[in-house]
Amino acid sequence: MSKITAAITAVGGYVPDYVLSNQILETMVDTNDEWITTRTGIKERRILKDTGKGTSYLAIQAAKDLLSKSNTNPEDIDMVIMATATPDMPVAATGVYVASEIGAVNAFSYDLVAACSSFLYGMSTAARYIESGKYKKVLLIGADKMSSIIDYEDRTTCIIFGDGGGAVLFEPNEEGFGVQDEILRSDGIGRQSLKIDAGGSILPATQETVANKQHFVFQDGKTVFKFAVSNMADVSEKILNRNNLTGEDVQWLVPHQANKRIIDATAKRMGLPEEKVMMNIHKYGNTTSATLPLCLNDYENQLRKGDNLVFASFGGGFTWGAIYLKWAYNSN
Ligand code: UT7
Repeated sequence: MSKITAAITAVGGYVPDYVLSNQILETMVDTNDEWITTRTGIKERRILKDTGKGTSYLAIQAAKDLLSKSNTNPEDIDMVIMATATPDMPVAATGVYVASEIGAVNAFSYDLVAACSSFLYGMSTAARYIESGKYKKVLLIGADKMSSIIDYEDRTTCIIFGDGGGAVLFEPNEEGFGVQDEILRSDGIGRQSLKIDAGGSILPATQETVANKQHFVFQDGKTVFKFAVSNMADVSEKILNRNNLTGEDVQWLVPHQANKRIIDATAKRMGLPEEKVMMNIHKYGNTTSATLPLCLNDYENQLRKGDNLVFASFGGGFTWGAIYLKWAYNSN
């Protein structure tokens, strides 16, 4: 019997309608379009404005988009992995609710929480379930309602993040397409540089934590940038070398969309021109767990069977890594 690899066979995505542009942010905090554009590459981001709707809403829309585009019967799905940093609530996994809402009644589900690397780590997890031979359809969703944890009076974070969701379906492949290799890393040194102080078991919510704005994201941007720019490039270069690939052999870099300067540095180290780099940071900002699947959703029509893709991410924790995958289908 030939070896089973885990191939992506369908993608879907969703972003909310409301557009938060740099021009609007200029009226909210002391910033300007020129600073945001040159330092990050972001022009606008999408925000889920409706009250009472959380990350599950974004995830459900993305999953439904995938199901309808690929004509997949949700009852055939074995497992739903929900990658997110902003679950609907601290207890009662978001993925469980999402699976029920999309009609994946035969699936089991759980959340995978690893900041901006949640989706990348989720790809690894999904691949192992498929490679085991026991599971035939694993739905991996990455979604985040970042606006629920952002202080819109803090110019150092509110210009960066946006809301969105993306989904991919993993299925077994016996022709060698799908996940080929991975390098996943983490380092607790990052804990103080990108975090939410309160609301967890160390500092549960009190009136004081709310008054002190300790339920919002804090980021020491400079430190995170330094670690991100070197580590994301390192693992991306290493995965090329380990698989005897050069930039010429790679059709697409699928990078986490945190900062265009970090993406450019990674592409440069891999020897990739701009045309081979998936980019949507200008229109969505940093959607955390949704950046990678939203890239696939935006570029799906340009992907060809056999293309070599390198996924790369870096996020809070710190968490980071790279995955080498062979694309399995032509979408048109
Ligand atoms: O996805 C998870 C992982 N996260 C990342 O990878 C993010 C990594 N970090 C970054 O992308 C960048 O560090 C930022 C975009 C967050 C910040 O860019 P920077 O070039 O590192 O800026 P900085 O923090 O060094 O700030 C430079 C200056 C400061 O002023 P002074 O001290 O030089 O007078 C800031 O106060 O820019 C100021 N500044 C701003 N000015 C206008 C900070 N935020 C803003 C702003 N508008 N929004």
